[in-house]
Amino acid sequence: MKSSIITAFASTSLFAVSGVQAWGVLGHQTVALVAQSFLLPTTIKKVQSVLNDTSSSYMGNVATWADQFRSQPGQGWSAGLHYIDPLDGPPPESCVIHEMDCPAGGCVLSALANYTARVQDTKLDVADRAQAMKFIIHFMGDIAQPLHTEEWGQGVNNLTVFFKGYKTNMHAAWDTSIPNSMLSLAPTANITMDNSFSLADQLHTAIKSGEYKQNVTSWVHPWHIKARNPYSAENTTEAIATTFAQERTQLV
Ligand SMILES: *[C@@H]1O[C@H](CO)[C@@H](O)[C@H](O)[C@H]1NC(C)=O
Ligand SMILES: *[C@@H]1O[C@H](CO)[C@@H](O)[C@H](O)[C@H]1NC(C)=O
Ligand SMILES: *[C@@H]1O[C@H](CO)[C@@H](O)[C@H](O)[C@H]1NC(C)=O
Ligand SMILES: *[C@@H]1O[C@H](CO)[C@@H](O)[C@H](O)[C@H]1NC(C)=O
Ligand SMILES: *[C@@H]1O[C@H](CO)[C@@H](O)[C@H](O)[C@H]1NC(C)=O
Ligand SMILES: *[C@@H]1O[C@H](CO)[C@@H](O)[C@H](O)[C@H]1NC(C)=O
Repeated sequence: MKSSIITAFASTSLFAVSGVQAWGVLGHQTVALVAQSFLLPTTIKKVQSVLNDTSSSYMGNVATWADQFRSQPGQGWSAGLHYIDPLDGPPPESCVIHEMDCPAGGCVLSALANYTARVQDTKLDVADRAQAMKFIIHFMGDIAQPLHTEEWGQGVNNLTVFFKGYKTNMHAAWDTSIPNSMLSLAPTANITMDNSFSLADQLHTAIKSGEYKQNVTSWVHPWHIKARNPYSAENTTEAIATTFAQERTQLV
């Protein structure tokens, strides 16, 4: 299932555009709740302990925290960590992410590597480890939103579209209008955790026994674990894979 976490995780010069988010509330909470539903018992204990939350939605509760955090005074440094902007053209022309696409200030790949290391670093205080966990839960959602890993039109935030008559932009439609429509909710609906559990349960079932069952193996296999270097964009994908290797092994 960690495969769905990885598939689900990537986002932000897209986010240099004001007000733009990677996934909306439903998307981020759903990614977190699907991830929760596949964690091993030992992992659940660790995550709940780091987050100091033993409720049934312990990951869902913090899934949108990073979007609020980056808007707070003095926290703008984190905005660029929600995405990566490969400069060599959008898919289908190209789908290659080069190390140079990750700027000095960081990107979603370097951030996932950094916070994966930090959440496991017991020398850090509990608040720093909790922050790292919250960043990981959010950025794994971001990295799986395809418009957070391509640069064209700043993640196609620059293109006005109509989704079922609702005027928005292409990026926002992917973030919010389309996921909301999967539950027959309006693009402007206020999302509850019950909404997100509903979509997460549908996806969990599709992965375990439904239309995505056939895909699980192919989602998992491209991840070759070789090395781990938190400062290298090339190696951070491997660092991510390492983090979830235990669950993947379980899955396959
Ligand atoms: C954990 O949560 C409990 C109850 O919400 C709270 O009383 C406690 O201070 C929290 N602990 C830490 C370390 O934040
Ligand atoms: C890792 O995260 C910490 C805390 O946000 C930050 O201070 C540090 O600069 C980051 N390091 C890298 C290499 O991204
Ligand atoms: C959006 O951005 C792309 C390239 O980044 C550009 O080619 C296109 O003209 C822009 N569209 C609008 C409506 O500005
Ligand atoms: C969402 O909640 C806000 C604040 O409670 C409210 O003003 C708004 O009307 C609600 N939107 C919808 C579509 O229900
Ligand atoms: C699942 O596998 C089928 C058959 O190979 C393929 O057509 C489909 O695009 C895949 N879906 C996903 C979400 O990977
Ligand atoms: C990735 O990690 C390997 C092994 O630590 C190292 O040899 C290689 O130079 C790293 N690649 C980059 C681009 O830093």
